[in-house]
Amino acid sequence: MNTDPSRRRFLTQAGLAGAGFAASSVFALPSYSRGSGLTARARLGLVAPRENFDRRLFGSFLEHLGRAVYTGVYDPGNPLSDERGFRKDVLKEVKDLEVPIIRYPGGNFVSGYNWWDGVGPRKDRPTVLERAWNSIETNQFGTNEFMDWARAVGAEPLLGFNLGTGTSEMAVAYIEYCNYPKGTKWSDLRRSHGYEQPHKVKYWCLGNEMDGPWQIGRLTAREYGRKARDIAQQARVIDPDVQLIACGSSNPRLPTYLEWDREVLEECYDMVDGISLHNYFGNTPEQSGGRSERFLAQNLDMERQIQEITAVADYVQGLRRSPKKLWLSFDEWNVWYRARGKEHLDGKGQLAPHLLEEVYNLEDALLTGGFLNTLMRQSERVRVACLAQIVNVIAPLVTSEKGTLRQSIYFPYAMALRYARGRMLDIQVDCETYPIKAAGLRADFARNEEVPFLDVVATYDKNSRRIAVFALNRDLSNERELSLVFDDVTPSKVVACETVTGPDLKAFNTFETPNKVVSTKLDTAKAGSTMSVKLPARSYTVIHLAV
Ligand code: AHR
Repeated sequence: MNTDPSRRRFLTQAGLAGAGFAASSVFALPSYSRGSGLTARARLGLVAPRENFDRRLFGSFLEHLGRAVYTGVYDPGNPLSDERGFRKDVLKEVKDLEVPIIRYPGGNFVSGYNWWDGVGPRKDRPTVLERAWNSIETNQFGTNEFMDWARAVGAEPLLGFNLGTGTSEMAVAYIEYCNYPKGTKWSDLRRSHGYEQPHKVKYWCLGNEMDGPWQIGRLTAREYGRKARDIAQQARVIDPDVQLIACGSSNPRLPTYLEWDREVLEECYDMVDGISLHNYFGNTPEQSGGRSERFLAQNLDMERQIQEITAVADYVQGLRRSPKKLWLSFDEWNVWYRARGKEHLDGKGQLAPHLLEEVYNLEDALLTGGFLNTLMRQSERVRVACLAQIVNVIAPLVTSEKGTLRQSIYFPYAMALRYARGRMLDIQVDCETYPIKAAGLRADFARNEEVPFLDVVATYDKNSRRIAVFALNRDLSNERELSLVFDDVTPSKVVACETVTGPDLKAFNTFETPNKVVSTKLDTAKAGSTMSVKLPARSYTVIHLAV
């Protein structure tokens, strides 16, 4: 039995996560206590038995939108493309990232998409006017090309059904086309298209943002819930192994937020496995007052959204007396607020128009690190999450005719993909806080709360015996020391330590100056059961340790 009093205190605090500490003034982070001074202390251990988190937490998204597909991943005729028309530079970037799962084909696009137009001989595929983004869709890249591309980059597909203009008959035909082995109308059509083996797509979205006034074929919650239930019931006959995701609220601003989720789940709880969340964040007068210190706390707004949707799902579980707990799919998240005006959303009937081409700066990268911390911290309920999107459209990667650029948000995403493995370590952080103010902010951001300067999570991979500690330093002016105290596992070596930081929060990369915001090496103290790292002001850092 461990009699160390501080260890006992840690065990008690970790055990009380979500109860005792939720009442503390540190918003949304049950495992934080308020400290003082420039040194924070994090105690890490293996207190609670935990499963490994799902790598699908670090997924991404490819929509037929703007230059994402056409000139992004698919650019036939370009010297950088292979014989299939796939851009080799983009393919390599995504493959090297090891993105585990990619959502396709939308997004708003999916709600007007006829998947049938995008399969079979290319010469027979129709060119259509795509109505979500008012763009030309040639259908030269469709489901089978996506499957080939996803396989080439090593990602699992996450496909979406059209619940807007689509009928339930075409939705179930789609899953039969993709997943049924052979001997039926749609599976044999796939085989006739050169795909003898089924694609075996496991994860499916039952539509996209069906609560949104902007959505093609928008439905009420009850209508949507019934339609989703019907499709789910039939889909399970075709493939009993599928995992189905119901559309949750598109964002917390909609007046139907939470009510939508409750009503949808009341209609289809027993037929689905997960519920989706979406949200985009920004350093705007409404969301942050244009203040970077408030902006960098927005991952805690994401965290609150996760807690609220979890509460609704669990409420319906109770109503239905169901033994099943739903997991969450945060299948669209990112910073997105600059490229949002009409000129960024309207393709004006063009092929591959420049839409949603957000340029990301250092502070966006830091908040992206915060989002990744939140997703890891909430990974007991969030199984799938998708950084929206992967290339050209609100994306870490941007193409020109001649090459690929890594935007600032690429770096925290790459750090998480590379180093976060295994299970979450239990963590208790004692850290100085700063106030965020409600005045003048939109309701979903308006809070008077104390926010810790440091946001810290850690993973532990039993197989490789590696720990990764991820720390966001929200302090815009000061370096902060993080003192790490390990119980149960003792680091023996610092394998890597990387940080994203810089003097100018508004700095961004361009094709001419691609290295303004990148990750760089950072020195740490020697590895040991107690060790420390100096986190630069305005930084997101990973410390990778061998045990
Ligand atoms: O990712 C861009 C768009 O944002 C998606 O098409 C839609 O689902 C969301 O509103």
